[in-house]
Amino acid sequence: MRQPIGVIDSGVGGLTVARELMRQLPKEKFIYLGDTQRCPYGPRPKEQVKRYTWQMVHYLLEKDIKMLIVACNTATAYTLQELQSTLSIPVIGVIEPGARAAIKSSQNKQIGVIGTEGTISSEAYPRTLKAIDHSISVDGLACPPFVPMIENGILSGNEAEKIVAETLQPLKNKNEMDTLILGCTHYPLIKHLVQTEMGPAIQVISSGEETAREASLILAYHGLLEQGNILPTHEFYTTGNMEKFRNIANRWFEAPIQILERVNLDT
Ligand code: SIN
Repeated sequence: MRQPIGVIDSGVGGLTVARELMRQLPKEKFIYLGDTQRCPYGPRPKEQVKRYTWQMVHYLLEKDIKMLIVACNTATAYTLQELQSTLSIPVIGVIEPGARAAIKSSQNKQIGVIGTEGTISSEAYPRTLKAIDHSISVDGLACPPFVPMIENGILSGNEAEKIVAETLQPLKNKNEMDTLILGCTHYPLIKHLVQTEMGPAIQVISSGEETAREASLILAYHGLLEQGNILPTHEFYTTGNMEKFRNIANRWFEAPIQILERVNLDT
């Protein structure tokens, strides 16, 4: 029987990872859960993010998932190790794949990271990058206005451009940096604005592609790759407003999403 892969995020950001997963693993069925009601996770205390993340995980375990993708940087920074050591299924996050993609891209080892307050203050990216190559230098910047703006569907136009320009200003003086990691899975939805603001000399990196590659290798290693030829129907769940979720998802995916339901995790 086909077992799905679970993908969790604080909201719509993980859809940027889900799209890449679906592209690289077209036979696999995905179940996506976005905790839109309680988004953003970035400013929340670590213990609260851990509790919310576990609630999402328990919901998906009931659906018999064979692998879990934590498609949220804040949740990855705070809970990945605990999830990996507790669950009996493979669990992957987005920080290590993002770090690896940045290392591949950077010529001068001067890497910038933008993310939520939680992700930046956790130092998860500098730790991961330096564990791979100690000589890398990392500049981090928290961008708190981005997630609420994206969850509200403001992905282009004057207001979005102004917010992006003002927020990224402190990074623009770091003139040695050649690579910038989008250390929040929401940010690929405004990658065009970030790229314009930072200029063509900076490589802007999202973790989706590398995360999907890692998922595929791990599934193959564990003999969990789907063998059948029946095209899957993916399922989407949100704890928040379904119409907002559907609008963003339908803008991001090529075809409209079919199954979308609202769930309550805080029972
Ligand atoms: C957030 O909920 O604040 C953003 C999610 C992320 O860190 O990727």
